[in-house]
Amino acid sequence: MELVRAKDYTDMSRKAANIISAQVILHPDTILGLATGDTPKGTYAQLAEWQKKGDCSFARCSSYNLDEYVGLSDDHPQSYHYFMRKYFFDLVDIDIANTHVPDGAADDPAAACEEYDRMVAAAGYPDLQLLGIGRNGHIGFNEPDDHFARGTHVVDLTESTIEANSRLFDSIDDVPRQAMSMGIQTIMLARRILVLASGADKAQAVHDMVFGLITPKVPASILQLHPNCTVIADEAACSLC
Ligand code: F6R
Repeated sequence: MELVRAKDYTDMSRKAANIISAQVILHPDTILGLATGDTPKGTYAQLAEWQKKGDCSFARCSSYNLDEYVGLSDDHPQSYHYFMRKYFFDLVDIDIANTHVPDGAADDPAAACEEYDRMVAAAGYPDLQLLGIGRNGHIGFNEPDDHFARGTHVVDLTESTIEANSRLFDSIDDVPRQAMSMGIQTIMLARRILVLASGADKAQAVHDMVFGLITPKVPASILQLHPNCTVIADEAACSLC
């Protein structure tokens, strides 16, 4: 695992966009693993700008998102489907038919998770997986636990994640209590992983991910075992490293 120190959010976003654009320039058929959240927004905006200028293209890429809330339809403004269209898919030349986000509105979420896992496996797993990290060390919606989850699964969200996400909903009662998330094994099968972190509230999680014990209590710590994982963190997020 390598740690790249960025000056600030803008610098982190540009560094990440440089790596992703180099990946799609070298390998136009790249399978991207994508994340939502505040952290990658700047990266997506930078990539959209470069794509508009003709510096890179996503026309031949496909993508698989990490997660989605259970119970939100894909046109719900807080759904991750909606987020991805707003901040990335609608801004670049990717073919929307080649983008995939778990189906939060599925009648049988557990079966939909299994199907999603089969689809990611059949595609051959992401060439490059983009990740953010939660303040409690979660990746995707893999929360601290006493074991590492394997494939895509339904997760009961912790109080800290519900509270962190409540800023995006009208009230904390509107935050879904469950989500669908790729498991740790699915994430670890990506050929390259890029973790982004920004802000002082991520400093402990970044420290524990990079230097802590490998434990399901800090799900991101397993990334130490990945053969090609890069963390790009800004000064505030690196302050304990
Ligand atoms: C989102 C995801 C989450 C976020 C994490 C950080 O798809 O998988 O693990 O990456 O919660 O969120 P932000 O970037 O909003 O701090």
